[in-house]
Amino acid sequence: MDTVTTIAAVREHVRAWRRQGLRVAFVPTMGNLHAGHVSLIEAARRHGERFVASIFVNPMQFGPNEDFAHYPRTPLEDARMLASAGCDLMFSPEVREVYPNGAERATRVEVPGLSRVLCGEFRPGHFEGVSTVVAKLFHIVEPDVAVFGEKDFQQLAIIRRMVADLCMPVEVIGAPTVRDADGLAMSSRNQYLTAQERSVAPIIYATLQAAATRLAAGDAEIASIERCGVQTLEQAGFRPDYFAVREAPDLNPPSPGARNLVVLTAARVGKARLIDNVQVTRP
Ligand code: PAF
Repeated sequence: MDTVTTIAAVREHVRAWRRQGLRVAFVPTMGNLHAGHVSLIEAARRHGERFVASIFVNPMQFGPNEDFAHYPRTPLEDARMLASAGCDLMFSPEVREVYPNGAERATRVEVPGLSRVLCGEFRPGHFEGVSTVVAKLFHIVEPDVAVFGEKDFQQLAIIRRMVADLCMPVEVIGAPTVRDADGLAMSSRNQYLTAQERSVAPIIYATLQAAATRLAAGDAEIASIERCGVQTLEQAGFRPDYFAVREAPDLNPPSPGARNLVVLTAARVGKARLIDNVQVTRP
């Protein structure tokens, strides 16, 4: 695996592959890789012939009181994991390479509507930071295909919309969430959990599944399902930002005939804010 830190070097590698007619797959990450990220590289391997991963903790997607400074950074371990997962090129730029005029003054990409609901309501500016950096990374890497985890369901929906709206020639693939044996979705932020918090964290997935079971059985009482989810999480000691049933393609509240739904939640415990979701098809 080659490691590069400049835009010019990424382009040189990728354009050489393109001249050979090779299909390039890209996995953007913020590093601190775990098995969930490895599964994204494995998904990328099914869709391309050369693989690029970026490691970039993007300041623009962190709010003023969020964990940018403390976000776990493990570059050596990340490089080792990417190389053994079969990645060909790791792009790990400095902030000034991506935002030469500073992140605050950079041109921004905003996906209206989708960016303001659910997590967007509780993390103002977060998704603008995500769509901006992903647009920049797509222009830098020029991949044929890019893979994102379904754990960040709203992020994936926003990126799909951005790609469609801006006619970007990139195929966006969603890869299934990877979970610990007890159901907790893998996330770099799980390491903020104390042992006691970690022991209750699987309740998030269990509560989402309980809601999905009700929906799959034809229960149409959306407000009651959402209320019940919030109560269960609160009783377990979480502070839920939301527990919501939405239409999967556009995250709108479900219309009576909509069949493809997703139940999503974001819940805080201690220093961690955990997100997860379960997709469900209604009868
Ligand atoms: O999901 C992430 O790790 C980040 O939001 C992403 C897509 C790499 C953009 O910084």
